[in-house]
Amino acid sequence: MRALVTGATGFVGEQLALALARDDVDVRCLVRSREKARALEEEGFDLHVGDVFDARTLRGAGDGVDVAYYLVHAMAGGGDFEEREVTGARYFARMAREEGVARTVYLGGLGGEATSPHLRSRHRTAMILEAQGPPLTYFRAAMVVGPRSESYRTLRYLVERLPLMIAPAWLDTPTQPIGIDDVVSYLAAAPRIEPSAGREVQIGGPDVLSYGDMLDRMATALGRRSRPRVRVPLLSPRLSSLWLGLVTPVDTKVARPLVEGLKTATVVTDPSGATLFGIEPAPFDEVLRRAVAADEVRD
Ligand SMILES: NC(=O)c1ccc[n+]([C@@H]2O[C@H](COP(=O)([O-])OP(=O)(O)OC[C@H]3O[C@@H](n4cnc5c(N)ncnc54)[C@H](OP(=O)(O)O)[C@@H]3O)[C@@H](O)[C@H]2O)c1
Repeated sequence: MRALVTGATGFVGEQLALALARDDVDVRCLVRSREKARALEEEGFDLHVGDVFDARTLRGAGDGVDVAYYLVHAMAGGGDFEEREVTGARYFARMAREEGVARTVYLGGLGGEATSPHLRSRHRTAMILEAQGPPLTYFRAAMVVGPRSESYRTLRYLVERLPLMIAPAWLDTPTQPIGIDDVVSYLAAAPRIEPSAGREVQIGGPDVLSYGDMLDRMATALGRRSRPRVRVPLLSPRLSSLWLGLVTPVDTKVARPLVEGLKTATVVTDPSGATLFGIEPAPFDEVLRRAVAADEVRD
């Protein structure tokens, strides 16, 4: 089987490319910069240099490909990311259809799509891929936990660097995080699970937690005491994201749409798609432990 992995220099895409290669899948990585993808090239991956916002550069990416993964978001570019994401999804879907790709697989977010520009845009991307490309498996997840994830790094920074946490109302919003290893297992299995074609698959770990709970559990995973919280219920998403940009390494451009999404519950409401896969995702404490351990190996 041959797979095209878009977003292979990113957190989820890189882990997926490595896992597929371990399963003897022939992997082609679509990357914007050969320089940035040097580690992938050294691992022996076939690279196709292209940008989903430039249709010309996508030509040939899907040649001989059975499954094309779309693991891209445009938040880092700031500004009108919604418009850019529509364009990227259209070009990618058209390329995949014209080049005879049998299946596309996409990972979007959980939660009501109308409530924040970020969640709305993730869902719209799925609708375009589904309408204009080959049969789609549309995975939906809340926070994906792993050492390179922006969300994990943000939680870790907040716990490690701040003597106390400001506690906006969104700290109480329920969410259902999932570990990167489990997400990769779902993504990699999708082409073999025929009934997952043309449907939504909501995935999540076994724990439904508030963001506040996650901070406390991160403190435990790091062997620290939980931080006291100061209630500031009226903190706006704009101020929250500026604050996150100030106290963590997360780019404010990325923090803003993410924070807007934190007002929305991101939990699995329909587990029927996930049951097709027979995967039992690891508990939150376990995936945190793995991520902290991986950080220690790298430091
Ligand atoms: N991480 C999570 O917690 C989470 C949760 C739910 C869903 N998801 C979804 O999973 C997918 C991947 O997320 P991630 O966390 O892995 O993101 P990430 O680490 O920020 O990676 C994004 C990837 O997209 C690539 N990219 C951006 N614009 C591109 C363009 N115009 N053309 C080609 N490639 C482009 C980036 O390439 P460069 O390296 O060149 O910038 C990078 O490889 C997204 O659809 C996201 O919504 C993630």
